[in-house]
Amino acid sequence: MQVLHTISQTREIILNQKQKGRSLGLAPTMGALHQGHLSLIRRSAAENDFTVVSIFVNPLQFGPNEDLDAYPRTPDSDIEAAQSAGADLIFHPSAEEILGKEMLAFVDIEKLQDNLCGRSRPGHFRGVCTIVAKLFNIITPDRAYFGQKDMQQFIILKKMAQDLNFDIDMLLCPIVRESDGLAMSSRNKYLSPAQRRDAVVLHRAIDRGMQLYGNGETNAKKIISALVDFIRQTPSARIDYVSIVDEDMQDVAQVQKGHILALAVFIGKTRLIDNHIFGEPVTL
Ligand code: PAF
Repeated sequence: MQVLHTISQTREIILNQKQKGRSLGLAPTMGALHQGHLSLIRRSAAENDFTVVSIFVNPLQFGPNEDLDAYPRTPDSDIEAAQSAGADLIFHPSAEEILGKEMLAFVDIEKLQDNLCGRSRPGHFRGVCTIVAKLFNIITPDRAYFGQKDMQQFIILKKMAQDLNFDIDMLLCPIVRESDGLAMSSRNKYLSPAQRRDAVVLHRAIDRGMQLYGNGETNAKKIISALVDFIRQTPSARIDYVSIVDEDMQDVAQVQKGHILALAVFIGKTRLIDNHIFGEPVTL
């Protein structure tokens, strides 16, 4: 496995693979790899001849008061883990390499970013779309793999790929959870032991939401209000949002199969997100 830091070297390897007629998978990441990322890499390795993992902590997607500087960076263990999961190439550019001296062109998306994380984090999805569009142009994958934990991100990137005519299969991979149900996230590293115990409230809330729906409750407001009350019982938890949306990220009044329960909750200073699709079993 190679680790490359420049766009030109990466393009050269990619071209060589394409000339050999090999299919290419991409797992875009910001590093601090955990089992969730590794599941994307394993799936890509199983479905493609050549798997590229990008590692880049993208400044464009962090707001001014967010955790860009503190974001965990663990390149050595990432390289080892990506290799053992089946990566063939790691693209690990510097900020200057990928953003240049001054970026003046950006990719933005309308409507789909007006709710949930897009509403709480203005500019976040513009940063995500811009960097992923760049990665798509550099790597030119046949398939790209994303985790369901960032469901809104996936829906936005899928629409971006469609609208900008990227000829790439956009694939969503299931959330990978710790044994107590907490969705794996690089940000879990910020949690103190006590906060780590409290963080399970997100998954428990999802479980409750699905139980209410399973018992026949379809009024979105009632489900949300029950979950808000439940989450508030955990003192370290501060709710950013608890929402039920359709696939266009619009709030719904009546819940039906396929709608998405999405939450963002601060545990201390750490903002965690999770989601679940109504009608799908809750599994760990
Ligand atoms: O999901 C992430 O880790 C990031 O948002 C992504 C897709 C790598 C873009 O920076």
